[in-house]
Amino acid sequence: MDVLIKNICCIGAGYVGGPTMAVIADKCSDIEVNVVDINEERIKLWNSPNLNDLPIYEPGLSQIIERCRGRNLNFSTDVQNKIASADMIFISVNTPTKKKGLGAGQASDLKWVESSTRQVAKHAKGNTIVVEKSTLPVKTAKVIQNILESVQNSVEGNETTFQVLSNPEFLSEGNAINDLEFPDRVLIGGESENAINALSNIYKRWVPDEKIIHTNIWSSELSKLTSNAFLAQRISSINSISSLCEKTGAEINEVAKAIGTDSRIGGKFLSAGPGFGGSCFKKDILNLVYIYEYYGLHDAADYWNSVLKINDWQKKRISNYVIDKLNGTVSGKKITILGFSFKADTNDTRESPAIDICLDLLEEGALLAIHDPKVNQNQIKSEFEERNFNENQNWSYNPNIIENIKESHAILILTEWKEYQSLDWQDIEKLMIKPSWVFDTRLITDHNQIKKTNINFWRVGEITNKETHSFS
Ligand code: NAD
Ligand code: UGA
Repeated sequence: MDVLIKNICCIGAGYVGGPTMAVIADKCSDIEVNVVDINEERIKLWNSPNLNDLPIYEPGLSQIIERCRGRNLNFSTDVQNKIASADMIFISVNTPTKKKGLGAGQASDLKWVESSTRQVAKHAKGNTIVVEKSTLPVKTAKVIQNILESVQNSVEGNETTFQVLSNPEFLSEGNAINDLEFPDRVLIGGESENAINALSNIYKRWVPDEKIIHTNIWSSELSKLTSNAFLAQRISSINSISSLCEKTGAEINEVAKAIGTDSRIGGKFLSAGPGFGGSCFKKDILNLVYIYEYYGLHDAADYWNSVLKINDWQKKRISNYVIDKLNGTVSGKKITILGFSFKADTNDTRESPAIDICLDLLEEGALLAIHDPKVNQNQIKSEFEERNFNENQNWSYNPNIIENIKESHAILILTEWKEYQSLDWQDIEKLMIKPSWVFDTRLITDHNQIKKTNINFWRVGEITNKETHSFS
């Protein structure tokens, strides 16, 4: 008989836990969903009466929170009790790259996964299904199972039982609600048929059966890492081609379109840019590389490492290009940075390419005027300070785009926010110091509009001067 889930607890109220549980609560009004976190400030924001204060910005999220919060969706720090009352527990905690110790700089740091698993082992009651939602190295389910079983067996008369499933999350930030409501697939890995059915039955309320894929638990864990590695690899591939376009007169958007129409290649994830950011691509590839090295598969490790190398190279060549075009020196020059989040429609700045590119320019003495519609000054400051850059007098933040642009030598577009797509370049030209430059790393500016001005103009993957090289 199918296990009926009435109460869910999700450990971790972050970019995944918050939106994922909001959608489950929205689709299953008969299930009580409790999202718990040790971060009191974050929980306070999730509970804020002002929906603009939610800790995560995602289009469509606040409407769901408004519908479900206090009905069957609750956010709290009461980890112990919410675990105790749950039939199904999602582990959705952070798994960043280890900073020190064995595997530092590569392996995922599993301390939060381990501590939350121990909390589950200690407080869970009855038959409990534990679902890995975090992205984890292949074989982690075994570690989780071991912890749960050893704690369980050490208590005499304990009747709690656990089944572990892997259910990785594929949402992308900025599109999270749409991805959750209309997923390409839901992946469930595990051994216990009852547990798999219990989780599948939740998703089946809004996801068609054929999109719910069942695999063994290791395939599920490895598929998540592989999926991110493949996506990142496409971006490094197109970015590497963008540099060749700049030398030859080929245009990256035309090349992307031409290859993307081949149904074997497909048109998505072929936008050249300043390099990929976000909390996961880099950490997941590093983790994959670590696992390859662990198994002695060094050449395969090198292959995936090269995806990261090209990403760093892309960022570096953009900052070098800006410096070069501004006569080889940006010292004392005001440069307006448009966009600091790692992509549009999110306030997330983790691993944003803007961080490294801005730091390169700041190191060269540039004065940066930074704008982002959703990222605030403190967040930018903490990203810089985390990388030991403390000269905060060399950059400023102003929520008004035009105020930032006044007296700038150059504008550098780093995020594809829609606000930047409709700028009036003829007006902007009047505000800038001459000769002025616009560097568009996202290919969002209106080419023809800028051409009507005297602004020097560069877009990634397009040739700047009209001379083409020949090999003869
Ligand atoms: P996050 O840092 O935004 O959130 C994780 C939360 O877990 C934090 O608020 C932290 O305080 C909490 N936490 C840690 N240990 C805890 C404990 N013992 N008890 C209670 N709370 C605890 O991370 P995220 O972006 O939501 O990512 C979570 C996982 O999902 C990661 O493994 C990530 O790789 C994966 N993932 C992320 C995305 C994404 O778009 N961000 C998409 C797919 C998968
Ligand atoms: C990515 C994956 O797309 C999700 O499936 C996955 O669940 C998630 O990582 C995760 O595991 O965290 P996300 O990082 O939120 O999602 O955003 P993406 O849309 O994948 O963009 C990642 C980076 O690549 C951004 O900096 C984006 O600007 C860049 N990008 C993306 C490009 O430069 N070109 C493209 O064509 C697409």
